[in-house]
Amino acid sequence: MNSSKGGLRQLHNESRSLSDALGDAAQAVEQMLERLLPKPHGLHGRVHEAMRYATFAGGKRLRPFLVIESARLFNVNAIPALRTAAAIEVLHTYSLVHDDLPCMDDDDLRRGRPTAHIAFDEATAVLAGDALLTIAFEILAHEETHPSAEVRCRLVSRLAEAAGSNGMIGGQMIDMRAADSRFGQDEIVLLQRLKTGQLFEFACEAGAILGQAGAEHQQRLRDYARDMGLVFQITDDLLDVTSTAEKTGKAVGKDQEHGKATLVSIMGVDGARAEAARIAERAAASLKDYGPQAGSLRALLPFLLARES
Ligand code: IPE
Ligand code: IPE
Ligand code: MG
Ligand code: MG
Ligand code: MG
Repeated sequence: MNSSKGGLRQLHNESRSLSDALGDAAQAVEQMLERLLPKPHGLHGRVHEAMRYATFAGGKRLRPFLVIESARLFNVNAIPALRTAAAIEVLHTYSLVHDDLPCMDDDDLRRGRPTAHIAFDEATAVLAGDALLTIAFEILAHEETHPSAEVRCRLVSRLAEAAGSNGMIGGQMIDMRAADSRFGQDEIVLLQRLKTGQLFEFACEAGAILGQAGAEHQQRLRDYARDMGLVFQITDDLLDVTSTAEKTGKAVGKDQEHGKATLVSIMGVDGARAEAARIAERAAASLKDYGPQAGSLRALLPFLLARES
């Protein structure tokens, strides 16, 4: 797919800073989400309201950014990239809505405002999460996502694997156990690779799938994403210890309160920071065969190491 009829050209201007690139990706995917999410209507309009409430709440839109940046490596058109970016963002948002429920992390604050089950009610939050999960696959399966049915099918099956019981859900299951068993580094790294890493892997691989780039590109991008996801989750765990609810938009100190094993709890703040920096170098090495086009993916690594939200 080489024609550039869509807006990805603007998103792909190499002279922009990373923060401009993140901001532009967020704006573009939010426009797409506005089109794709149902407007509240009918007797069931409350579930649409809750889906929109959870989605349009100012998340960092990191996974859409990764889809857009990996798509850029293979000259993918704007609409396929943005629809795929929207699909991963609604699936991620579902995971947050369910993660915050009283039966999971029992959190009141998300993306700087009351969690969906507080703003609505628990049943509505469960249903809105279910609907956000479901619509992700509806978006990917639609022919506007890619002219090739084989590509669409590949996107659907890879996202299903990444989000399923051997992917993100498996990681959430292990996370539930991290509170009462004595996890070591191997168990924590596995937990992180599944609960957070799998969606990042899909986001990065999606560009190669959309661009029909072949297995070795998919693998390289997954290698980058696996390590980038670890850096992301280690810094999430660091922020839980070192940051504030004002900065992160969610409660802090929860991991310790729940007795959750993290790399911070077993290595200390400095040890976890050093481990994240070591993994970030390995992530950058996975991009060595890509030129300046991969500049934003590289720049994301120091950005994550320094992030405060
Ligand atoms: C939070 O993800 C959940 C984790 C996987 C740790 P993000 O930090 O990407 O959340 P948003 O989308 O910016 O709110
Ligand atoms: C959530 O991990 C991961 C998923 C939602 C899959 P956390 O529980 O650490 O995320 P936060 O800290 O609540 O955002
Ligand atoms: Mg959790
Ligand atoms: Mg949580
Ligand atoms: Mg956390």
